[in-house]
Amino acid sequence: MHKAVKSTVDWPAIREEFPILRERVNGHALIYFDSAASSQKPTAVLDVVRNYYEHENANVHRGLHTLSARATEHYEKSRQRVADFIGAKNADEIVFTRGTTESINLVAQAWGGKFLKSGDVILLTEMEHHSNLVSWQLLAERIGARLRYVPVNDDGTLKIDNLDSLLTPEVKMFAFTHVSNSLGTINPVTKLCAKARNVGAVTSIDAAQSIGHMPLNVQEIGCDFLAFSGHKMCAPTGIGVLYGRAEILEATPPWHGGGEMIVSVSLEKSSYKKPPHRFEAGTPNIAGAIGLAAAIDYLEGIGREQIFQHDVDLARYALDRMTEVKGLRVIGPKENRAGVISFIMEAAHPHDLTTFADRYGLAMRGGHHCNQPLMKRFGVTGTTRASFYLYNTREEVDRMIEILQKAVAFFK
Ligand SMILES: Cc1ncc(COP(=O)(O)O)c(C=O)c1O
Repeated sequence: MHKAVKSTVDWPAIREEFPILRERVNGHALIYFDSAASSQKPTAVLDVVRNYYEHENANVHRGLHTLSARATEHYEKSRQRVADFIGAKNADEIVFTRGTTESINLVAQAWGGKFLKSGDVILLTEMEHHSNLVSWQLLAERIGARLRYVPVNDDGTLKIDNLDSLLTPEVKMFAFTHVSNSLGTINPVTKLCAKARNVGAVTSIDAAQSIGHMPLNVQEIGCDFLAFSGHKMCAPTGIGVLYGRAEILEATPPWHGGGEMIVSVSLEKSSYKKPPHRFEAGTPNIAGAIGLAAAIDYLEGIGREQIFQHDVDLARYALDRMTEVKGLRVIGPKENRAGVISFIMEAAHPHDLTTFADRYGLAMRGGHHCNQPLMKRFGVTGTTRASFYLYNTREEVDRMIEILQKAVAFFK
C-alpha cells in the first residue's frame, strides 16, 4: 500500500528536538516505547504554546480587544491548518474537541441521536478501542439500535472476506479504526468506506493511531466522519478533532449547550450557529489548537511518508529481533502493519514485565490497552505493548531485547 521511500531525514537530530528524551529514569537513559498511548512533544510545539501564553492569550471570538483578535485569528488559522493536513474541503468541516473519545461521542450522541432509530444496525469491529465501542453501546441502549461486529482473523487482520453478509442495508453506521492500537493492523479504510456507501451507511473512522504516523486524506478515503487526538501526534493533551463532511455536519444538531454555539438565546428558545462553532460550546482549548497546528507543521516538515517508513522499519527490525527471546509470542499481523507491537511472554504477566522494564528506563505498556473484547478474542487478559515513533532508534530496540532477555532469566 505504501511505497518504500529512502529516508533523507536525520533521525538522530529529530530525536534531539524532544527534550524529555534526555530524562533519566531509574538511573538509565529513558527509552520511550509508549507513543501509542501518548507521544512526546518537540521543542517547536512547546515554544509555540509558550509564545501563545506570553503574547496572545485571551478568550476567542468574544473580545473586541487586540489580544482577543490575535487569539481568535491564531485559533481559526489552526483550524484551516488541520483542514489542509487531512485534505478536508474547508475549515468548517473541522470541529475542535478534547480528543478522539470526545469526537466519537459527538458523532454517536449528536448525529446518531438524530439519525439512528430502534432496530438500525451499528457495525463496528472486534478490534475497536473502548472509545469506539462504549460510545456506540450507550447510544444503542438509549435508542434500541443493534450492534454488530466484524470479526478479527487469527493473524490480527479484519475478517472482511464476508463483509457483505454483515454490511447489510439495516446498517446505518459503520465505525472502525484505521490502525489497531493493540495489534498495529492497518485497515483498508478506503475500501471499507466504499463498501459502506454501497449500502447507504455513514462511516466514522477512528484515526487516533494513524493520524500522526502516515499520510491521510479524508476525501481520498471517502469517510463521513474521522476522529483523532492531538496528544498522539506531538501536540498537547486536551485537543482533538472531529472531521465531518460538510453536508453531514450541517444536518447534525448541537450536543453541548453553552456560550459560543448560539446565534440568539431567549428564555424560551435558542438558535444555533453553523458548524463547526455549533459543536464548540464554551471556551475551547485555544492553546491546544494552536499547539496542534504547530505539531502539524512539525510533522509535515519531516514528511508523513518518511515517518511511516521509519516506524515500519523499526517495527520490522524489532519483530525480527524478538524471535531471539525465548517464550515470546507476538499477536498481530506480520505484514502491512504500523509501529505497534503487542506480545506475550511465557515468563511474566504483562504488568510484571512492564514494571520490570521500567527499572531499566524502558517505558512500555502492559494491560488490555482499552481493547478488552480484542484481548478476549485472543484468549488473553492483556499484552505488553511496545509502540514506536519518529524519535525511536534501532539502538533502543536492541536495548529492549537485552531487557527482555534479562526478564526471561529473572522470572524463570
Ligand atoms: C485507536 C484509539 N482510539 C481511541 C483512543 C482514545 O483516544 P483519547 O484518549 O485521546 O481520546 C485511543 C487512545 O489510546 C486509541 O488508540
